[in-house]
Amino acid sequence: MTDRTLPPSAVPLPIIIDSDPGIDDMLALLLALASPELDVRGISVSYGNTTVENAFRNAVAILRRAGKRTTLAVGARRPLKRPLAVARDTHGESGLGYAELPPSGVILDFVKSLDRLLAEQPEPVTLVTLGPVTGLALALRSDAEMVRAKVGRHIAMIGNIGAQGNTTKYSEFNAWCDPEALDIVLRAELPTEMVGLDVTREIVLAQHETTRLQHAGAPQARWINDALRFYIEFHKQQEGLDGCIVNDVLPIAALLKPAALTFEEQLLVVGLDDAAHRGHTRIDPHGSRVKVATRVDVGLVRPLLSERVFRWAVHQTATPIVSQEAGV
Ligand code: RIB
Ligand code: CA
Repeated sequence: MTDRTLPPSAVPLPIIIDSDPGIDDMLALLLALASPELDVRGISVSYGNTTVENAFRNAVAILRRAGKRTTLAVGARRPLKRPLAVARDTHGESGLGYAELPPSGVILDFVKSLDRLLAEQPEPVTLVTLGPVTGLALALRSDAEMVRAKVGRHIAMIGNIGAQGNTTKYSEFNAWCDPEALDIVLRAELPTEMVGLDVTREIVLAQHETTRLQHAGAPQARWINDALRFYIEFHKQQEGLDGCIVNDVLPIAALLKPAALTFEEQLLVVGLDDAAHRGHTRIDPHGSRVKVATRVDVGLVRPLLSERVFRWAVHQTATPIVSQEAGV
């Protein structure tokens, strides 16, 4: 039970993260796991940047290197109806660029699903989605009433309004992967907050900021940098950027620093066609109510990453040993 004697700010915020790790997801997960203000009740993995099997393996590797434990679940293995397409060019064959990883399993039977993970929460949680929202759509299809009871807040890295897309000219990747799932989530009118490309494109990790990771002797620093190197190469080639856009860090940072984001309530729809407007999120008077992040104070975000992830990594001289007993 939550200790009611503590001031609200002292009681860690219970969150569940649905993620497709993914290099920027990796930084977001490391930031969340390093933040005492957050109680990470579980991580559900999804296809998206990579296959769900790789995402599961990557999440385990991230937890092991962070020396943390939490419940792992599966959000979604594939889109609701669209063919599975993963972002090998952006995140590499493994999903974590050049980072060293053990082989991924191929069978995820009997791994808890996101709806089971939500249902077992003793109180409402903040659901953070950092990939396609197929897992949340499946949970809504299975038991919408339970989802409404257990998801007190949904903050999603997804979509774009004024910003150019990163998958088609109009569409952002997480929305593009499964627009039908996003349509279900929008129509459910959960307390959804959209953290889209309009603000995440400002969260750029410059190449020089990764230099101390490159030259650190610490294994965690080298591992994180091996993942980031791939991501920076992609951004240089695709966007002529001297760095990389770490989209998924922003929803986690916003939980830690609420003043980092300014929101406006909008009515949104998502494109369901098969062409350039597939997954295109746009304002429409017949749309669903969503709080859309319109401005970001990058100065509140950057120190979190450098102090809680990079400074930690360069001082980690050994990989923490996490007891391997089953379950949490
Ligand atoms: O469009 C960016 C989003 O798609 C990020 O969440 C990235 O990890 C990919 O999932
Ligand atoms: Ca992601």
